[in-house]
Amino acid sequence: MRLLLPSPPAAWMVLSVLALLAACHQAAAAVPTLSTASRWVVDEGGSRVKLACVNWPSHLEPMLAEGLGKRPVGAIAADVAAMGFNCVRLTWPTFLVTNASYGNLTVAQSFQRLNLTESLAGVKVNNPGVVDLKLIDALKAVVSSLGEHDVMVILDNHLSKPGWCCSNTDGNGFFGDALFDPDVWVDGLTRMAATFAAAPNVVGMSLRNELRGPRQNANDWYKYMQRGAEAVHAANPRVLVILSGLSFDNDLAFLNSRPVNLSFAGKAAFEVHWYSFSNSQEWSSGNANQACARVSAGVTRRALYLLDRGWPVILSEFGVDNRGVNANDNRYYGCAAAVAADLDLDWALWALQGSYYLREGVLGLDEVYGVLDWSWCKPRNATALRRVQALQRPLRGPGLAEAAPYTVLFHPMTGMCVVRRRSLAEQTLELGPCNETEAWAYSAQEQRLALRDSSQMCLRAEGAGRAASLGASCADAMARWRLVSDSKLHVAVNATASSSAAGGGTLCLDVGADGRSVVTNPCRCLSADNSCDPESQWFKLVTSTRSVAAAKQNLLAQLPLRLKNWKIRSF
Ligand SMILES: *[C@@H]1O[C@H](CO)[C@@H](O)[C@H](O)[C@H]1NC(C)=O
Ligand SMILES: *[C@@H]1O[C@H](CO)[C@@H](O)[C@H](O)[C@H]1NC(C)=O
Ligand SMILES: *[C@@H]1O[C@H](CO)[C@@H](O)[C@H](O)[C@H]1NC(C)=O
Ligand SMILES: *[C@@H]1O[C@H](CO)[C@@H](O)[C@H](O)[C@H]1NC(C)=O
Ligand SMILES: *[C@@H]1O[C@H](CO)[C@@H](O)[C@H](O)[C@H]1NC(C)=O
Ligand SMILES: *[C@@H]1O[C@H](CO)[C@@H](O)[C@H](O)[C@H]1NC(C)=O
Ligand SMILES: *[C@@H]1O[C@H](CO)[C@@H](O)[C@H](O)[C@H]1NC(C)=O
Repeated sequence: MRLLLPSPPAAWMVLSVLALLAACHQAAAAVPTLSTASRWVVDEGGSRVKLACVNWPSHLEPMLAEGLGKRPVGAIAADVAAMGFNCVRLTWPTFLVTNASYGNLTVAQSFQRLNLTESLAGVKVNNPGVVDLKLIDALKAVVSSLGEHDVMVILDNHLSKPGWCCSNTDGNGFFGDALFDPDVWVDGLTRMAATFAAAPNVVGMSLRNELRGPRQNANDWYKYMQRGAEAVHAANPRVLVILSGLSFDNDLAFLNSRPVNLSFAGKAAFEVHWYSFSNSQEWSSGNANQACARVSAGVTRRALYLLDRGWPVILSEFGVDNRGVNANDNRYYGCAAAVAADLDLDWALWALQGSYYLREGVLGLDEVYGVLDWSWCKPRNATALRRVQALQRPLRGPGLAEAAPYTVLFHPMTGMCVVRRRSLAEQTLELGPCNETEAWAYSAQEQRLALRDSSQMCLRAEGAGRAASLGASCADAMARWRLVSDSKLHVAVNATASSSAAGGGTLCLDVGADGRSVVTNPCRCLSADNSCDPESQWFKLVTSTRSVAAAKQNLLAQLPLRLKNWKIRSF
């Protein structure tokens, strides 16, 4: 279902891991055992652990985690951690553990049977230690390498027969399909759970990716998913059991009327997938504000409502074409990121891989949704990566009440936040890293957007095309902010004719031509207009209890430590 436009291999693009580490980083922490506390995933101490994962496929025909022909597994694992992901959703096919004609193969045999000569040569160079391992042992090596970098792993049963996923008619879609015998599936889950029971960084197992197809129905969902969940829990009571929905994991609405019935508590969560192509028509032909409102209401009605029922819901696949060329993806991203920030969701980005050994018959296929480029050496698009990184750290949740709740002005399109730059002449506002955000307070009733700790200082519009200001005169129309459009992502004032260069009208917060300053401009395509893109004017007012000052100090203190911790790992 994803775009398949290969870009030319770029063998010259070799960048060191060190440079990547310097560019992006996060503190390493020991891997926790996870459980749930209402909608939150928490550690042993009951403190929130936000899952900021990236998908790493190991379920295609070769059944080896992608990329091992390009880089040593330890270098890839180090990059995952360096890019700030604390977890990997690592996919596997059932037959790897239930069918000896797959499971008994070594890596070399698996590649040879598919004539993947060049990839195998790459694996021999980059990961000589895995070549003669059985496939399951190679998977263990990947998991343990991630563990060495304190990266958590969710093992995702992606399909039965190794290959690209998913279609309604591939025989892997629902219980009873040609390749989807429920007994074999439960057997596979049990074996996998037992095999990795001793791996501390395997913190979760998702039962089945994207159930779908003509056979799907809620009754069988309960019957088999509950069985699968019990089997995993029995074989490894330490892991979180993650249940996906119907219709390509777009639909958990049926749980509204009938809750899941499990013998254990505090160890189960749900997952949902959300791509632009789940609603292509809406994005391509509707007004972006109206599409965002409708589509996100739909995702809420079908899945995210479970947060309010006390269940974690992990957004376990979302992502975009990182070249920025897919108009639907571009419109969708700001909307999805606003929801993810607002609800402070746990998530797994699609995807890590820059390329595949073999996908849908194509050798070395380029993955334009990939965080890494074709060579697996550096980020494909540093801008796109940075805006996802803005979603990695938790904003709130158990154990994170470091500050009284305040509002963050989050700009989803860039992954930046409205910050104050102190200069000699004035206090100017601009987009900056969210870890350096101001603590704002918004009162919808008073229509006032002020600094929380200095409430006399409020946000003001100064006119069309002019920088928004932070000032003490907060009473007039130019300081009365409303959230407008169906999406409520525009922050607007009704400008007075005298104060607006444009002669009145509604002005919205926007990003200046320099890509950094925070200005107001006439509000763009609030409704009706289907062709224009309002995303530069989208700001989400997000609640945070993260300590602003402490966050700054922590990161600074970690800098030398991160460099010290850096080491090359291979095996
Ligand atoms: C194992 O896989 C082979 C090859 O796809 C297939 O022919 C065979 O029927 C499978 N056996 C079982 C028990 O699923
Ligand atoms: C697979 O490997 C196991 C253990 O080495 C062995 O007992 C079994 O006979 C093998 N199966 C096949 C089909 O080669
Ligand atoms: C591999 O190559 C051999 C010899 O060229 C060919 O007979 C066979 O069909 C190929 N197998 C695959 C899976 O492409
Ligand atoms: C939940 O499952 C248990 C064990 O199978 C069963 O005894 C119980 O009746 C079920 N509860 C509901 C509400 O279905
Ligand atoms: C990177 O992503 C951004 C955001 O989508 C896009 O505007 C830009 O064109 C992309 N750059 C490249 C080189 O693909
Ligand atoms: C701004 O104008 C709109 C439409 O004219 C009106 O509905 C709204 O109440 C006004 N808001 C303020 C704060 O004056
Ligand atoms: C905030 O994050 C950015 C990049 O992620 C980093 O360069 C900067 O040092 C951080 N700021 C503070 C105050 O820690």
